[in-house]
Amino acid sequence: MIYAVANQKGGVGKTTTTINVAACIAAAGHRVLLVDADAQANATSGVLGGERPGADALTTADVMLDGASVAAARIPTVVPGLDLVPASADLAGAAVEMVDRVGRERLLREALQPATAEYPYVFIDCPPSLDLITINALVAADRLIVPVQCEYYALEGLSRLMETVAEVRARLNPALAISGLLMTMHDPRTRISGEVVNEVRTHFPGLVLDTVVPRNVRVTESPSFGEPVVRYDPQCAAAEAYQEASREVMARG
Ligand SMILES: Nc1ncnc2c1ncn2[C@@H]1O[C@H](COP(=O)(O)OP(=O)(O)O)[C@@H](O)[C@H]1O
Ligand SMILES: [Mg+2]
Repeated sequence: MIYAVANQKGGVGKTTTTINVAACIAAAGHRVLLVDADAQANATSGVLGGERPGADALTTADVMLDGASVAAARIPTVVPGLDLVPASADLAGAAVEMVDRVGRERLLREALQPATAEYPYVFIDCPPSLDLITINALVAADRLIVPVQCEYYALEGLSRLMETVAEVRARLNPALAISGLLMTMHDPRTRISGEVVNEVRTHFPGLVLDTVVPRNVRVTESPSFGEPVVRYDPQCAAAEAYQEASREVMARG
């Protein structure tokens, strides 16, 4: 099963969600591949324990555009069972280069297909836009996870994302289903946080995961150690929420 984690808004918790759900599923004994499809490479630095990919490391751009195999590009992470296809800044140029390719929307799908035999779970961390890289992720994916930050204007942008999903389904990937919207950075002390959760649930009945991820300082600390928070501090509230969310994601199939 290939999951794209997407929302064209930046800073809503895409990368945090991707690396933590992927880490939880790996910890449950499944082989998981994490594909960093954002030129900012936050997912890459978030799972390598402070190391960087080697200078000669192959990246998602090589896999999408230069015929590099996942088997050649993947590297191990600090999480046992979780492998990574890293990103680097070259993905920004790749997005431009892709435009002229035949079958430009299917490059990632074709590159990932051979890896699904080895990895029952693949997670793609998308960039904060609806560019061709995100479209490639939606075309490659069986399921979409949409992190939504608990703040004003949370709904803004979601209808455009849903329109894009509908277009991708109609033209390129009829099998794409929404696994769930995941409410992130919930602050129980503010009234707005709870209001936003209710509003999104009302707007997207049945699509919002029961689990709500709380805002938690341990999440902001973990990237500087290059670890998902579920590994950095497994007992903290956000780590427990991500454990729960990953069980929901697996149960939804
Ligand atoms: N539950 C949380 N509690 C506190 N900070 C969070 C939480 N989730 C994400 N963050 C922080 O918010 C910022 C944006 O999150 P990130 O996952 O990088 O979003 P995106 O990938 O959508 O841009 C990061 O600094 C991250 O550490
Ligand atoms: Mg990100």
